[in-house]
Amino acid sequence: MNPKPPLSTLLTALVVAACHADAPRPVSSNQIIDDAIPQPVSNVDASAEIGQQVFSDRDQGHCVLCHVIPAVDAPFQGNVGPELTNIGDRLSPGQIRLRIVDVQSISPETVMPSYYRIHDLYQVDDDYAGRPILSADQVEHLVAFLSVQKDAQ
Ligand code: HEC
Repeated sequence: MNPKPPLSTLLTALVVAACHADAPRPVSSNQIIDDAIPQPVSNVDASAEIGQQVFSDRDQGHCVLCHVIPAVDAPFQGNVGPELTNIGDRLSPGQIRLRIVDVQSISPETVMPSYYRIHDLYQVDDDYAGRPILSADQVEHLVAFLSVQKDAQ
């Protein structure tokens, strides 16, 4: 027979688990090298397939609002932003990551929102303070998806 663990132990375990779950950790500016964030922002097993959903899904990234990738099945694709068809040829995964996390840090006037946060670089809008638009996992799935958008060799 296992003795029951005291309630306080269980509560501590729960709190610790909750804090570790998907607590957004802001990207710190020392993770940025040149115009890239070379290291992943989460340890998730990144999936291009999930990334494509994040890219087109209205309730997730909804990147198709402004970016065209003809191979993506979405009813309407906007062209406010550059076409991303062969973005994987033009940018490294780390460069793509920075542009998703915080494109405003390299292009301050852009209409594209910063989807994750950079901690000590600038003050985020009040609307978004403390609440990244995408989770770190979603950022990594998007990086996986966009990195393989290349011209067929
Ligand atoms: C409101 C429109 C808008 C939305 C929504 C948007 N973007 Fe952008 N994006 C832009 C614009 C405009 C640029 C060009 C950067 C600039 O303004 O200097 C850009 C640039 C980029 C670039 C760099 C492209 C290059 O050729 O250098 C990437 C990568 C990118 N966006 C990915 C995404 C992803 C992924 C999402 C969804 C999570 C997204 N964007 C959502 C407007 C948007």
